[in-house]
Amino acid sequence: MRATKTVTALLVVILMPFKTYAQKIVIAHRGASGYLPEHTLEAKAMAYAQGAHFIEQDLVMTKDDELIVLHDLTLNRTTNVDEKFSERARDDGRYYAIDFTLDEIRTLSATEGFRMESGRKVKEFSNRFPIGKSAFRVSTFQEEIEMIQGLNTSTGRDVGIYPEIKQPAFHRKEGKDISTRVVEVLKDYGYTRKDSKVFLQTFDYDELVSIREEILPSVGIEVNLVMLLGNRTDYPWMFEPDGMAKLAFMADGIGPSFDLIVDRGSEMRAIRITDLVAQAHGAGLHVHPYTFRANPEAVPHYASDFENLLEIHYFRAGVDGIFTDFPDQAVDFLQSR
Ligand code: G3P
Ligand code: CA
Repeated sequence: MRATKTVTALLVVILMPFKTYAQKIVIAHRGASGYLPEHTLEAKAMAYAQGAHFIEQDLVMTKDDELIVLHDLTLNRTTNVDEKFSERARDDGRYYAIDFTLDEIRTLSATEGFRMESGRKVKEFSNRFPIGKSAFRVSTFQEEIEMIQGLNTSTGRDVGIYPEIKQPAFHRKEGKDISTRVVEVLKDYGYTRKDSKVFLQTFDYDELVSIREEILPSVGIEVNLVMLLGNRTDYPWMFEPDGMAKLAFMADGIGPSFDLIVDRGSEMRAIRITDLVAQAHGAGLHVHPYTFRANPEAVPHYASDFENLLEIHYFRAGVDGIFTDFPDQAVDFLQSR
């Protein structure tokens, strides 16, 4: 097994530097969330139409064990839960999705993400969709898969899904095994092999191991697993010289913050690329950093504009794909190459 993996890794090392623009991918981060409220079916349909290769689903569980597509454990930031269920907040003032049934969540309006400032709702990004306008709702994992698979049927394309299991330790503490349920749904919808169009992601390494060694075998499927990396401190061993090689026994790819690929302190004339992509490719891992946003305030000062930021990561650092709120711009960029 180890020998096979080593040979595979060597082949990947040989082939990966020659990956062309046509093989690089665009992952729609929470859908086309730069244009429509994140994780709504409308934002996912727009991402699909803009040419994304994969569409992301962040997943949390409801009180009645349904999987919903929601980034936060709580409903505060992206729905009107405070208006509909004002008495249902926990002591910390937050409305946890896990305290609500799916039927209750279906009564909520989904909206552009906001924060409270002096009692007012203020958008996280100023140029985005207005808060509380039109009619959006929270959808289930199954509803979203059915829409993407339906579009694959009607368009002849083969767009993939990119689900993330959100805070599995929190779910376990609440008595819920979210990972097993996610894997069961993947099986129900035909995502059963390493060449299925799915990457399953998590920030929790212990959960990744459990998925690889216990849950996938018990459900009877194999899919690609991606370890998300937010910083160098949660799992310092992954950043040691043999870290990616060790990780490759459990994962098929990494999803790092892009600050782990290009040093945020870089200057335009002196871009400092870390060794993470080389180490990961050396171990045969895909590299899909997050999150690329075209809003001027989200483009680091070492890049002249969003297109330059894409150029630096796709072609100078050599990543295989990126998560972006603006899939149209990343697709156009790759096509222009
Ligand atoms: O999963 C990749 C990226 O989405 C991680 O960040 O916080 O947006 O889920 P987050
Ligand atoms: Ca995510």
